[in-house]
This record gives sequence, structure tokens and C-alpha cells, in this order.
Amino acid sequence: GKKSTVTITVVGASGDLAKKKIFPALFALYYEDCLPEHFTIFGYARSKMTDSELRNMVSKTLTCRIDKRENCSEKMEEFLKRCFYHSGQYDSQENFVELDKKLREHEAGRVSNRLFYLSIPPNIFVDAVRCASVSASAASGWTRIIVEKPFGRDSESSAALTKSLKQYLTEDQIFRIDHYLGKELVENLSVLRFSNLIFEPLWSRQYIRNVQLIFSEDFGTEGRGGYFDHYGIIRDIMQNHLLQIVALFAMETPVSLDAEDIRNEKVKVLRSMRTLRIDDVVIGQYKSHTKGNVSYPGYTDDKTVPKDSLTPTFAAAALFINNARWDGVPFLMKAGKALHNRRAEIRVQFRHVPGNLYNRSIGTDLDMATNEFVIRVQPDEAIYLKINNKVPGLGMRLDRSHLNLLYKARYLKEIPDAYERLLLDAIEGERRLFIRSDELDAAWSIFTPVLKEIEEKKIVPEYYPYGSRGPVGAHYLAARYDVKWGDLGLDE
Ligand code: BG6
Repeated sequence: GKKSTVTITVVGASGDLAKKKIFPALFALYYEDCLPEHFTIFGYARSKMTDSELRNMVSKTLTCRIDKRENCSEKMEEFLKRCFYHSGQYDSQENFVELDKKLREHEAGRVSNRLFYLSIPPNIFVDAVRCASVSASAASGWTRIIVEKPFGRDSESSAALTKSLKQYLTEDQIFRIDHYLGKELVENLSVLRFSNLIFEPLWSRQYIRNVQLIFSEDFGTEGRGGYFDHYGIIRDIMQNHLLQIVALFAMETPVSLDAEDIRNEKVKVLRSMRTLRIDDVVIGQYKSHTKGNVSYPGYTDDKTVPKDSLTPTFAAAALFINNARWDGVPFLMKAGKALHNRRAEIRVQFRHVPGNLYNRSIGTDLDMATNEFVIRVQPDEAIYLKINNKVPGLGMRLDRSHLNLLYKARYLKEIPDAYERLLLDAIEGERRLFIRSDELDAAWSIFTPVLKEIEEKKIVPEYYPYGSRGPVGAHYLAARYDVKWGDLGLDE
């Protein structure tokens, strides 16, 4: 309402995430008229900076959408006028008291709501939360804190972090981001399943043979080696982004679209999952590779990575959900850096048509041509279904065709960045796309034993060349469950 204000404080304002994602997302929301009338943005970091220096820094990160060029530079000017800076230590209550004073001036007696976005390294999360909560909480409205992974590095450290945060905050105040939940096609998963008749009846072990969650990037850890080496790809991508997709994919119909109802169903799936076993995991690490005249660095060539690091930059895993719907269906995950392409997708491979007439008359080449349903999360968002179809003509020849919903052909609007949706939801108090602490615990339980075993036994990753399709071990893992990775198929 008119009498209330929202201040968004970006703690760690000069960091990478703030510049790449948070400020641009806030501006996009402003442009779309999604921010409340009275809002103020504060950058908070250690370096000394004036408001105008911050504005200058922020202005370099802002862009206009292709379809929203009109008035864009005026809007930027207006937006920048709402941005301010306060310099302080992350563990200084005194500095946060100063911040509080400035925030109060901007709030000018209105009901105050405060959102803190912690865009800082995990070792100072708790200090910053303590200071923000003790010294800069909203006096009248709500105080919320957005945190982003890493949430610990195993069950124990994650539980310890949750416990520390809860000394200062209630669960309701903590907004744990998994930015994959803010992606358009991930949000669409539930729409597909629950508002179309044709998917849900097929959504079980009876018709689905396996489900694949594939993440690949065509660049290495460039510049992020210091962070990455402590975590590895399983913690960086699988335990959160891919697992969250599995939870949404596999959950039962929630009672309603309320955050608690949805998260209740997700946590049930996660708790039904079998603890991952070492035999069901393949790990890899990229090595340098020269192509033409260009030479691409190996993971350990990164100066911030120890030369003898065994940290996986690639992993494949087979997961199982021990419940009535999914018993025995492999959920195969594959995630890697420095591969041949950048892509994130969900692939659903269906069973064979029992007693297929056409297999008999045509021979064996169609044996593998079962239906496959693909949700391409990025790039080139799309949903397509591979079907067998008759090639037009007098004979009887079949081929593989796609029923294809390509977003850029169907929807002309640009797709908002995940951070826009998530920031807006946090401001509005919509918790559906944030991770509840019991979900987080369940997610860690699945992966913690295997992560420990990999480290304790110093398991050597399979080396793969930068820019390749990753270790062959991934194929053997899939083959053990009689599965082929869909992204390597001939008709892709
Ligand atoms: C982050 C990981 O969570 O997700 C990064 O820490 C990864 O390693 C990134 O590059 C990928 O996100 P997106 O949205 O670019 O697919």
C-alpha cells in the first residue's frame, strides 16, 4: 500500500552475483512496474564508495530488453536515483546500526519492510545475518533474508548453518534460493503435469522407463576455481538444481498451489529417495585440450585450484525413488563443466509399445524408437515429444518426428531471468519457489554418504578433454540400467 515501503539491501554489492544478476533483475522488475511505489535499494559492502559511484557501477550492469527499449534510459535514470550505498564490515553491528539509521530516513515513518540479499561468501553468512537481524531489522513490517548456496557441504554442516541462522531468524524469514526454480520451464513442469490430461496418467513406472536430468556447460570454472574446488559438481549442480527438478517432476498432486502444500509434496519425494551409492556414480574432471590453434586449459591449470585436486567437474548418477509410483525407475543425472555444449534439459523416455505391429513388419531399426518427451530448460526453451510417424508416400516407411513447442516461435515475449521471479516472490512473501529447511536436510541425506566416500577414498576422476562429451563412464552407468543418454541420440 501507499503507507508502506520496501528496502532491498544487497549485502556484497560489488560481488559478481550482484552485478550479473541482482541489480539487473531489480531494474527489470522496476521497468515492469512490479516494485512497490516506495522502494529503496541499498548496496552494502566493505569498500568505500559514494552513492554516485555505486550508481555508476550499477548502471554498467543494466540492460534493456529487446522488446522494451522504449523509455529505457529514462527508466534507468529513475531507477538509479533509488539506489544508495553504505560501506561497512559484514560482522559489525555498529556498521549495521548506521545502515539502519539511513534506512529509517528513507522509510520516512512509513511501515517498513526490509529484504536483505546476502551475496557474500558462506563463511560470513551467519555474522551478516546476526548483524542485520539484531541491528537493522524492520521496526514495523517484515524482515526477510535471501541466502543462496552453498548451504554447507554435507548434512552436518548444513544442519549447523540452519541452526545458526535460526538463532536470529524464523524459518519464515529465510528465503533459500535455488535459482533453477525460478526458470520458466521448471515452473512450467507443474502446469504441464497438472493441467493437461495427457501427461499425468502416463507419469509413473508403468509407462516411464527412465528420466534424465542433464546439465552441461561449454566453459570451465574460469575464475571460480577457489569456490568450486571446495564443492565440486555434485554439490554445485546435482544436490540442488537437478534434485529440485526431480522433486517437482516426481511429486504427487499437491493439495493446492500454496507454498506449504507444494513443499510438503516435494519433501516426501526427497525423503523417499534411496541414498546414493558409490557404484551409481561416475566422476570426471576436465583436462586441457588443443583444437586447431586454440588451447583450452585443464581444471587444475586454474591458478586458484591445487595442482593435485581430485574435485569432480563432471558427474553422472543413477537415483531411485522408493515409492509406489516410481519404484525401479532410474532417474539419471549428468552434470558437467567444459563440455561440448551449454544445455539443461529433462528427458523422459517411455517404454516400448507392447507387441508393436510396426516393429514386426519393418524390422529391427525401430526397436529403440520409443517415445521421448523433452523439456529443454535452456537455451532455446522448448518442449517436444518424439513420435514415430509415417513418412508420406505410397510405401510404409516410418521415421522419428518431433511435436515441437519452441518458445521463441510461439511466444514473442522475452523470458524473464530466474532472479526476477525469485526477487519478486521474496518481496511478495511467496515462498513456493524457495527451499524449506526440511527439503534441504532431505536433499543432503541423499548425497552426503557418497560425497564423503569420494573424498575419503580419494577416488580419481575420469579425465575428459575440455570441450568433449565427457567421460565414457557415464555411458556404462546408463547401460547398466539398460538406458541410453537421450542427448547423444542420432536424431538430436
Ligand atoms: C550455479 C553454479 O548455481 O549455477 C554455477 O554455481 C553454474 O557453477 C550456474 O554455472 C548455472 O546457472 P545457469 O542459470 O547459467 O544455468
